[in-house]
Amino acid sequence: MSGRVEYDLREGVAILSVRNPPVNALGHAVRRALWDGIERAEADGEVGAVLIRAEGRTFPAGADMEEFDAPSRAPALTDLCDRIEACTKPVLAAIHGTALGGGFELALACHYRVAEQGARLGLPEVGLGLLPGAGGTQRLPRLCGAGPALEIMLTGKPIDAEEAEPLGLIDRVVKRKPGKAGFATARDMARGARAPQPTGARRDGLADATGFLEAVAAKRAEIADAGAHNPALARIVDCVEAALLLPLEAGLAMERAAFGDLVRTDQSRALRHVFFAERRAAKFPELAGGVGPRPVERVGIVGAGPTGSGIAIACLDGGLPVTLVDRNDEAAARGRARIAAVYERMVARERMTAAARDARLARLETSGRPEDLASADLVIEAGPEDASLRRGLFERLDRVMKPGAILASNSPMADADALAEATGRADAVLGLHFTPPVLSNRLVELAPGKFSAGDAVAAGVAFARRLGKTPVRAGNRPGRIGAPVLAAYFLAVDGLIAEGASPARIDQVMRAYGFAAGPCQAQDLAGLDAVQGLLHRMQGGAEQRGQTLVDRLVAQGRLGHRTGRGFYRYREGSRIPEDDRETAELIEAGRADPGGARAGPGNQDIRDRCLDAMANAGARLVEDEVAACPSDIDVAMIHGYGFPRWRGGPMMQADLTGLLTVAKRLRGYGAQIPGIGEPAQLFDGLVKNGLSFWAMNLA
Ligand code: 3HC
Repeated sequence: MSGRVEYDLREGVAILSVRNPPVNALGHAVRRALWDGIERAEADGEVGAVLIRAEGRTFPAGADMEEFDAPSRAPALTDLCDRIEACTKPVLAAIHGTALGGGFELALACHYRVAEQGARLGLPEVGLGLLPGAGGTQRLPRLCGAGPALEIMLTGKPIDAEEAEPLGLIDRVVKRKPGKAGFATARDMARGARAPQPTGARRDGLADATGFLEAVAAKRAEIADAGAHNPALARIVDCVEAALLLPLEAGLAMERAAFGDLVRTDQSRALRHVFFAERRAAKFPELAGGVGPRPVERVGIVGAGPTGSGIAIACLDGGLPVTLVDRNDEAAARGRARIAAVYERMVARERMTAAARDARLARLETSGRPEDLASADLVIEAGPEDASLRRGLFERLDRVMKPGAILASNSPMADADALAEATGRADAVLGLHFTPPVLSNRLVELAPGKFSAGDAVAAGVAFARRLGKTPVRAGNRPGRIGAPVLAAYFLAVDGLIAEGASPARIDQVMRAYGFAAGPCQAQDLAGLDAVQGLLHRMQGGAEQRGQTLVDRLVAQGRLGHRTGRGFYRYREGSRIPEDDRETAELIEAGRADPGGARAGPGNQDIRDRCLDAMANAGARLVEDEVAACPSDIDVAMIHGYGFPRWRGGPMMQADLTGLLTVAKRLRGYGAQIPGIGEPAQLFDGLVKNGLSFWAMNLA
């Protein structure tokens, strides 16, 4: 038997122990060995029951997703589950950790399930653009009915063993040692105690046929709008309906066909790519070899404006005490008022209790004196964008901070090396950029400098995670990852408008692509003065850049949503963009041939150019080693800039289009097109060698 599954015979029970770290994924070797174990146990007259358990931290957490794009190898997981269910001897599952996806389906195919208290059970396939493909859509509703089954499958959210027990999904929950409890039950069954019915033959969840079909109809209506971006939703509902209407074999065949279709969709490819990309992004080289973080128990923030206050809220929400400092007590107090107002709104909307608000505010101190940061373990500078002021501030902060405490700048433009040299704690200086708006955004770009110590970087990573953020490593270059890619996108939009595409048309195309807000609306919401600052910083000196529409809008005092006018017009108190004649006139007046007839770029062109601009900027960041690999750019754009997760990010999209095609298109736009320029050399290098961004990610 393969080393991935150990076979042990004790007191009439064959114990199959899965050992495939880190998460006991059900790869081919594991499936083969489990199949052989069941066959061997069935053939052995001394065996009366079988127990499936797992070594290490968890019961199998699913099928092995690394195998999904390779030709399938027998036995398929769904066949293994059928084989287990058909075993003439009772098969039991002892669950600890997480039984997810195929792991939970494996347990559902067993005749009896024991789980440790707190074990998590779920079918998260929908988040990967898939449905449960190893019998889950058929066995789960047979146990608990359509309502709970659909809730579990359509949300993908795991539930605790304690919640699963009353639903009939777990037969027994034990405080600890589920293997021991499972063994005792298996031994009783081996000695002749009555074995339970196979799940596929049970009808507990099908008994109320009318209720079942009503639950199916209700969910079908609920997902009608969301379904377009994730075809898995509708297929899950169809398969669950089939669990009632069709015999088990036919339902399983339907599920198998649906899984086969879904696994080949671009959506599923993209979502699986993001799953692995997020884990890759979490691997900072500085953390290799298990470097632990310096402790961060108190945070100081310098700058009580909207950004500093937003970071303070994230820290308070993460359970950390915060000292918020500004140039004087009054400015700091305004920060406190801003924070209190945010919490007040949450309480009013019943998204937070008054007690939770009070507990958070009790952790907040404000001050006009940097000396009050002496006890902070981490100080984040979140002041205005001014390099010379920042250097002086770092010198001053260094003098008052305690030894070993970490000093970080939130500015994406800050040079961590230069700032480190201004202090006596070079090893503890980092770039730590929270992408605005800080409250809703998950991206934190962590830029270590050349002097940064591993434990300081580890502290930055642990701190960002504690706040529920996604840290992505960025090279210590102005703009980090997000700003150059975003600037390329916005400049491409500027070029498209100059060629005759209206802001509304561009926004409509990019919303249809999957962005929640189109690029023009997004710029209005961010504030056009802020966007102008970003574009200027990313374009270089004044002599290198042409005038953009944003420059002209800002010159007219049209600063976006907050002034009621920008690309669009906004009514008082509304975020709904309305077309504005003055903007149209401004656009027309800025053209080389005002009033001339213009077809303007088509929808496909608009979309291609926006995506190609982002991919090209991303490729340059990889070339310049600002991003460690293309998928870090995808993670940054998804978590920080609203790129639709189910599209996988701009680099994944370029792979799906084909790098040769993207490079050709980039050349076709012409080097003078704003936001695009020459294709990065990386395209030719990869194309020549038959490689892709995906291959680079794995290198
Ligand atoms: N296949 C392949 N690799 C997997 C995997 C899977 N299903 N699940 C986790 N891994 C890998 C991760 O990529 C990571 O690899 P790395 O160390 O090389 O980066 C490693 O296992 C550890 O994973 P995490 O970093 O995520 O570890 P955590 O402890 O933070 O989380 C977990 C553990 C909750 C189990 C989490 O890994 C997880 O959610 N896994 C995916 C669960 C899932 O979606 N299962 C369904 C798969 S699809 C399926 O089963 C289809 C079936 O219906 C036919």
